[in-house]
Amino acid sequence: MKTDFVLDFEKRKEADFLVVPFWEGLEETAETKCLKGAANAALASGDFKGKKGETLLLYGKGEKEPRFLLLGLGKPQEVTAESLRRCFGNAVRAVLSKKAKSLNVLFPHIEKWEKEKVFSAIYEGILLSNYKFNRLKGFSLKENPETLLEKIGCIGLGTTAWAEKVQMIVSGVHYVRDLVNGNADDVNPKMLADEALSFEQLSSQIKVTIFDKKWLEKEGMGLLLAVNRSSSFDPFLIQVSYKGNPHSQEHIVLVGKGVTYDTGGLSLKPTDGMLTMKCDMAGAATVLGAVRTAAALGLKVNVTAVAPVTENCIGPTSYKLGDVYRSYLGKTVEINNTDAEGRLILADALGYVIRNLNPTSIIDLATLTGGMVIALGEEMAGVFSNHDALANELMEASHSTDELLWKMPLNEDYKDCLKSDIADLINSGGRDASAMKGALFLQEFVGSAHWAHLDIAGPAYLSKPKYYHPTKATGYGLRLLVDFLRKKETYTDPS
Ligand code: BES
Ligand code: MN
Ligand code: ZN
Repeated sequence: MKTDFVLDFEKRKEADFLVVPFWEGLEETAETKCLKGAANAALASGDFKGKKGETLLLYGKGEKEPRFLLLGLGKPQEVTAESLRRCFGNAVRAVLSKKAKSLNVLFPHIEKWEKEKVFSAIYEGILLSNYKFNRLKGFSLKENPETLLEKIGCIGLGTTAWAEKVQMIVSGVHYVRDLVNGNADDVNPKMLADEALSFEQLSSQIKVTIFDKKWLEKEGMGLLLAVNRSSSFDPFLIQVSYKGNPHSQEHIVLVGKGVTYDTGGLSLKPTDGMLTMKCDMAGAATVLGAVRTAAALGLKVNVTAVAPVTENCIGPTSYKLGDVYRSYLGKTVEINNTDAEGRLILADALGYVIRNLNPTSIIDLATLTGGMVIALGEEMAGVFSNHDALANELMEASHSTDELLWKMPLNEDYKDCLKSDIADLINSGGRDASAMKGALFLQEFVGSAHWAHLDIAGPAYLSKPKYYHPTKATGYGLRLLVDFLRKKETYTDPS
């Protein structure tokens, strides 16, 4: 995205649209004065009130833009970073529907707010909204070519340095969305491993290790291998380490569920439940994207992404209900539902992290349970943690990026339902409180390490577009993780 900055309204370049923000309840502001009365009739008629996200298209005469978009920002006393992201995200959706390729944006002035905060929220909303997944369209794309914004003129605010930071973060989000939206057949375990390997080209501080099926067999990752059994793709354990602060002992490990397709296995999902299951590697995509973005930003942190990747298929070699499989750490697991596969592959990955990586904290992200979606819906993820300070740091990051997160309980009493008569554990404790029971299962594999589990089954993948998210993959969690890592930077003792 090419982004220009001008302070003086008259010096702006030509563009397809001019976006003019308007506050609800105010008649005229410095911003609307630029319209030279073009909006008066619309405002006087009461057709446009400036409510949050409201838009009105006007046609200008003799200006540098043939079209104006009046954009409601709501009441000035109610403005938040998120309301700005959403409003400007809406504006972008509106101008994209008119095939705009360039945009001039008048940035509002907000009293008591630092200019960088105003700019970043708005610019982030614009970039997050400027996304379409068209790669799989064929004929319809020829008939109806889709456009994205290529150029933005920022009027009144912003510097290149602020813009670059936001661009790097949003391109991380787009990276995650692309992986999650891609065909499950294309974004298969091998492809994710190759993708991770390519990160070494991006930075000399990144080291990638791909553990293949032979290694998994030798090391005894029996749970990952069990889930993989009926797939035509081999499984991998992917490890991407970024050492941004070699002098620090701190080592944050991010673990992501990488089920590239979840049929449920022999506990087969019904059609409707399977329909969205290409999204089941969103956790893996997000942790890979987060490390890639941390490296692009040059964050002074040590962070490793670990992703177990496999399909959960059905076939003659499927792992079986009632059978017992042995995890990397040695705990055995009786399978009573092959659709509770995420916790199995994560158990092996978490065990690997505990035994080999010496983490100061572990955060796992997973589209783990439908129960999480029932509990919190599509807009929030739940966080389960054995360490309050870590959970609070994640909550702080969530408040900064407005990727909503809610603290969930880990009730030890419920562990009883994970007991097996013939093994150390069973993998599913039933439908009620299934999100918590999934988390309790994972907890069995982290020992005393500081650990948090984010169940992102709701917000990772949307059934319809919302705010600055197009439909399907959202990239939820990437901005949150990067913000968490950025805050770690300042906490780190440089000695
Ligand atoms: N991948 C699913 C969870 C999921 C559901 C993610 C909906 C996104 C949207 C997971 O592997 C699964 O099937 N979980 C089961 C667990 C149960 C068998 C304990 C579920 O939620 O039904
Ligand atoms: Mn499943
Ligand atoms: Zn799954």
